Amino acid sequence: MDPWVLAYDGFDPATEGLREALTTLGNGYVATRGAAAEAEADGVHYPGTYLAGCYDRLESHVAGRTVTNEDVVNIPNWLPLTFRPAGGEWFAPGGGVRILACRRWLDLRRGVLTRLVRVRDGDGRTTVVEERRLVSMDDPHLAALAVTVTPEDWDGLLEVRSALDGRVVNAGVARYRELNGRHLVPLAAHSSADGVVELLARTATSRVEIALAARTTAPGHPGARRAAVTRRAWVADVLTLHAHAGEAVRVEKVVAVHTSRDRAIGAPAEAARAAALRAPGFEELLERHAGAWERLWARARVEGGDAEVRQILDLYAFHLLQTASPHITDLDVGLPARGLHGEAYRGHVFWDELFVFPYLAPRFPGVAEALLRYRWRRLPAARRAAAREGRAGAMFPWQSGGDGREETPELHYNPRSGRWLPDNSHLQRHVGLAVAVNVWRHHRATRDAAFLAGFGGELMAEVARFFASLAVREGDRYAIRGVMGPDEYHDGYPDRAEPGIDNNAYTNVMTAWLMRRVLETPAVADAGGLTAADLDRFAELAHGMRVDFHDGVISQFEGYGELLELDWDRYRRGYGDIRRLDRILEAEGDTPNRYKASKQADVLMLFHVLGEEELSRLLAGLGYAWDAAAAARTVDYYLARTCHGSTLSAVVHAGVLARVRPGASEPFLVEALNSDVRDVQGGTTAEGVHLGAMAGVLSLFGRSAG
Ligand code: BGC
Repeated sequence: MDPWVLAYDGFDPATEGLREALTTLGNGYVATRGAAAEAEADGVHYPGTYLAGCYDRLESHVAGRTVTNEDVVNIPNWLPLTFRPAGGEWFAPGGGVRILACRRWLDLRRGVLTRLVRVRDGDGRTTVVEERRLVSMDDPHLAALAVTVTPEDWDGLLEVRSALDGRVVNAGVARYRELNGRHLVPLAAHSSADGVVELLARTATSRVEIALAARTTAPGHPGARRAAVTRRAWVADVLTLHAHAGEAVRVEKVVAVHTSRDRAIGAPAEAARAAALRAPGFEELLERHAGAWERLWARARVEGGDAEVRQILDLYAFHLLQTASPHITDLDVGLPARGLHGEAYRGHVFWDELFVFPYLAPRFPGVAEALLRYRWRRLPAARRAAAREGRAGAMFPWQSGGDGREETPELHYNPRSGRWLPDNSHLQRHVGLAVAVNVWRHHRATRDAAFLAGFGGELMAEVARFFASLAVREGDRYAIRGVMGPDEYHDGYPDRAEPGIDNNAYTNVMTAWLMRRVLETPAVADAGGLTAADLDRFAELAHGMRVDFHDGVISQFEGYGELLELDWDRYRRGYGDIRRLDRILEAEGDTPNRYKASKQADVLMLFHVLGEEELSRLLAGLGYAWDAAAAARTVDYYLARTCHGSTLSAVVHAGVLARVRPGASEPFLVEALNSDVRDVQGGTTAEGVHLGAMAGVLSLFGRSAG
């Protein structure tokens, strides 16, 4: 097995979505799922293309309510390319042209997706098609296909149709089907005199103009005839040429994408047309693209494991870098939790960069800094959000998108019960702590004094101000009430009407951590304009945050110890996979809020982020008794009560157990490694990869190797 090559044989409708996600090609600016070039969205294939940071907000009517959601926009499809013997049937899924054999493989080293199909049409003509595809890591506005069509047993006229398709909608996630996904308004579709077809659309409410231009050529066939076909929001070039049995006909499609958000351009349509005309042929594009990847790989690779593990590590680094690529240093984009690989979570940015920074910050500090800039530009929005809650400092949203407002949907859908339910996950205030940790990690990786004295320090100080104002004094301790921890299965108390839990240990201890860091780092206080009064309060919190304990372990939150034990055996027997216990219980008319059952690592996040030593120091500083036995008890306790309904959970457990209970770590490492490549959450990878888990795996190996 070549660890650089991820190969799939045959065609399997059930796993096509997964394969498309894992063969996505992108460059940080744009990414396209690895869908067949001749396919349209049809429930099996989903040829999505996404631009980093290109969001659009639409209203939808569900469950008797009007809700507003912001989505990353599925932009016009640049892939369409198909063929037919003149007068025959176009090759397309579900048509009369049968696939006899097919294979596709992704060359991770060079970033090239190749697909080979052998087909036979209704008249018995057999043809072999090979397609190579790239999304340029060299010039982020360019993508290309090189296709050879070889008739095996026929001669005659061959037609090749190369299109741009603006009729697409956001429909990549079945759960969102009831929501409005019509984000594109078609503006123009035409062919220009220079042999380029062009499509112009704009997003419905954010009004980003998106222009695509495609130049399709048949280099070895100067006599090829060209005809353009235009329909609403769809335009194609049809090339007609003579084909002979056994002789390959080669066609190239070079596509340029520009938007009204791009810098240093005039009109997007003009920029795209000029770029498509100027671009070299496929082989030269490929050479430059592969050169860019070679430079990335020199820094990106993490060593470790056998060939199979190697391949997974390279695959995960590949997908991470296709989203968080050096090209984002010139963009205003955060880290979408599911990459630019699908529409799950609507392209939103959560806290997942917390899992990405340990890998990214030392290797690609410029990219890490760009992700922090994304947060910094949204500091005014976060300050306004804090002020609306009567707090100081900056309150970052749990889900962040275009302008930095809270994008967490008001309702989420349980496919098991068919019910829309209130979504309280925006109460995960700890996302701000992740921003502060990332500032700190970036500083540790770069030792860049200007960063901490500048926007990095300002971010950290503003988050600290917020948490200092969130904490309330109760007796001799400081409490934080009405929030959610990382574990999304607890969004409230069973007997309390308002959502939120109190004194989440992760939030409270990380607050103490942040206060200490700020107090030790005068540059942060200067950058954030912190006053003596601010620092006095921070010092009180650093020593006074409340942490609850029960049964000799840290309580995930106040009152956790009084919750019921779940009958784990009954649920495992009854349902098999209980990762999404929340949906199971809700469908039964119950709620996880009643049980000691967590979706994902929560208390254990403290071990993961801080390490045992720093956690011990912090707890000692807070005046709590803590030792190695308490740590081991706490790890075992939550290990037995977590269902791993998030891919992040296996990463945390693998890392923590490797240190505290080495024998128990292996299954979690395997689960973390398999998270996307084997789609362990049962169908979620098809909707987008899990960048936090991917990067988490890379740092698990990076750490053990280093
Ligand atoms: C997890 C969150 C995570 C989000 C995006 C959720 O399922 O519970 O911790 O940030 O997915 O990856």
